[in-house]
Amino acid sequence: MQGLVLLPVLLCATYHIALSATNVTVADGLLDNGNFEQAPNASNMKGTVVVGRYAIPGWVNEGFVEYIKSGQKQGDMLLVVPEGAYAVRLGNEASIKQEIKVVKGMYYSITFSAARTCAQEERLNVTVAPDSGVMPIQTVYSSSGWDNYAWAFKTQSDAVMLIIHNPGVEEDPACGPLIDAVAIKALYPPRPTNKNIMKNGGFEEGPYIFPNTPWGVLIPPNIEDDNSPLPAWVVESLKAVKYIDSAHYFVPQGRRAVELVGGKESAIAQITRTIVGKTYRLSFSVGDANNSCAGSLVVEAFAGKATLKVPYESKGTGGFKRAALRFVAVSNRTRIMFLSTFYTMRSDDFSSLCGPVVDDVKLLSIRNP
Ligand SMILES: *[C@@H]1O[C@H](CO)[C@@H](O)[C@H](O)[C@H]1NC(C)=O
Ligand SMILES: *[C@@H]1O[C@H](CO)[C@@H](O)[C@H](O)[C@H]1NC(C)=O
Ligand SMILES: *[C@@H]1O[C@H](CO)[C@@H](O)[C@H](O)[C@H]1NC(C)=O
Ligand SMILES: *[C@@H]1O[C@H](CO)[C@@H](O)[C@H](O)[C@H]1NC(C)=O
Ligand SMILES: *[C@@H]1O[C@H](CO)[C@@H](O)[C@H](O)[C@H]1NC(C)=O
Repeated sequence: MQGLVLLPVLLCATYHIALSATNVTVADGLLDNGNFEQAPNASNMKGTVVVGRYAIPGWVNEGFVEYIKSGQKQGDMLLVVPEGAYAVRLGNEASIKQEIKVVKGMYYSITFSAARTCAQEERLNVTVAPDSGVMPIQTVYSSSGWDNYAWAFKTQSDAVMLIIHNPGVEEDPACGPLIDAVAIKALYPPRPTNKNIMKNGGFEEGPYIFPNTPWGVLIPPNIEDDNSPLPAWVVESLKAVKYIDSAHYFVPQGRRAVELVGGKESAIAQITRTIVGKTYRLSFSVGDANNSCAGSLVVEAFAGKATLKVPYESKGTGGFKRAALRFVAVSNRTRIMFLSTFYTMRSDDFSSLCGPVVDDVKLLSIRNP
C-alpha cells in the first residue's frame, strides 16, 4: 500500500532532477549578482574593503577588492555607479571570478561596465581559460566615465570560470578600475546567404547591451582573437568601435549597428570569400546615431584594394544614406573594411568621441557587369 503511494512521488522527484540537470545553463543577461547589488555581510567588510574570498554573493574575489556605494567620494571625485547603487573596485593584481554553466562548444560574449579612476594605464584582463584578453580602459568614450566592454570566448566544457583581473601595479591600490554590471549572451555564428556574402552584415548578432545604460558597448581591438564578440567581424587597429542598439540610438536597419568612434584608429573588417575575376558590389548604410555627433563625417570603405570615401553631413539627429562600391576580385579572399576618416566629438558634451554609423553591409557578385 505504502509502496504504491511512494512510487509516483519518487518518479516525480526523479523527473524534476533530470529536468533541472539539463536546464541549468546560464541565460542571456546579468550573471548571478552581476550588478553587485547583493552586498557582503557587514562582518565581511573593513571600511570599503571586502574581507574573505566568498564575501560578495555569487563571486569569488582575490586581492584588494573594495565594495563601492554610488555617491562615495574619492578625493574630489564622486563615484557614480551605472547599474543600481553598488560596484566593486579591483586593486593591484586583484580579481573577481564566477563559475558559469554553459553549453560546451558554444560561443558566448561577456559585457561588463568599467570605469577608470586615478591610474595612468588602466587595463583589465578577462579570462575564460584557455582564452584571455586584455582590454585597455584608458580612453573614455562616454561622458559618464563608465564604458561597457565586450569580450567573447568559445567553451570547452559545460562549466567555465570567468575571471576579471586588474594586472595593474599602481602606487595607490585605490586607483584601480571600478567594475559594475557583468552580463553574458550566447552568440550564434552567422552564415552567408544567397542574398549576402557578408556574414552578420547587419550587425544584428553581437554582445549583450544593458537596457539601462545608454552608451553602447565597446568592441575592443581584437587582433589576436578569433572569438569576436561581433561574430564574423574583427576590430583592426588600435581603438575600439562602439556597438549600438535602436533602444538608445538611431540605427539605419534592424536593431543594431556599429558607430566608428575612433577615427582612422578604429576599423572593422571581415574577410570574405570571392572568386578571382568576378565583379562584386559592396553596398552599405552610412549615417549618424542621433547622439549629437554633428559635422562632416566620412566613412572609408575598402574591398581589397578598391576604396570609396562616403561623405555624410550629420546634424546629429539621426539619419543615413546608402553607398556602393564595385570591384573586381583579385583574390580568393577579399578583406572588407570600414573606418572613419575624422575624429568627431559630440556637440552636447564636447568630451566624448563619436563618429559615423555603418550598418546593413551587403556584398553580392554581379552576373553581367
Ligand atoms: C531550458 O528551458 C528553456 C525555457 O523553459 C527552454 O527554452 C530550453 O529549451 C531548455 N533547455 C534545455 C537544454 O532543456
Ligand atoms: C551573511 O550572513 C548570513 C547570516 O549569518 C549567512 O547565512 C550568509 O551566508 C552570509 N553571507 C555571506 C556572503 O557570507
Ligand atoms: C591574463 O590572465 C591570464 C590568466 O590568468 C594569463 O594567462 C595571461 O597571461 C594574462 N595576460 C596578461 C597580458 O597579463
Ligand atoms: C532622436 O532622438 C530624439 C530625442 O530622443 C527623438 O525625439 C527623435 O525621434 C530621434 N530621431 C530619430 C531619427 O530617431
Ligand atoms: C584560390 O583557391 C584555390 C583553391 O583553394 C587555390 O588553389 C588557389 O591557389 C587560390 N588562388 C589564389 C589567387 O589565392
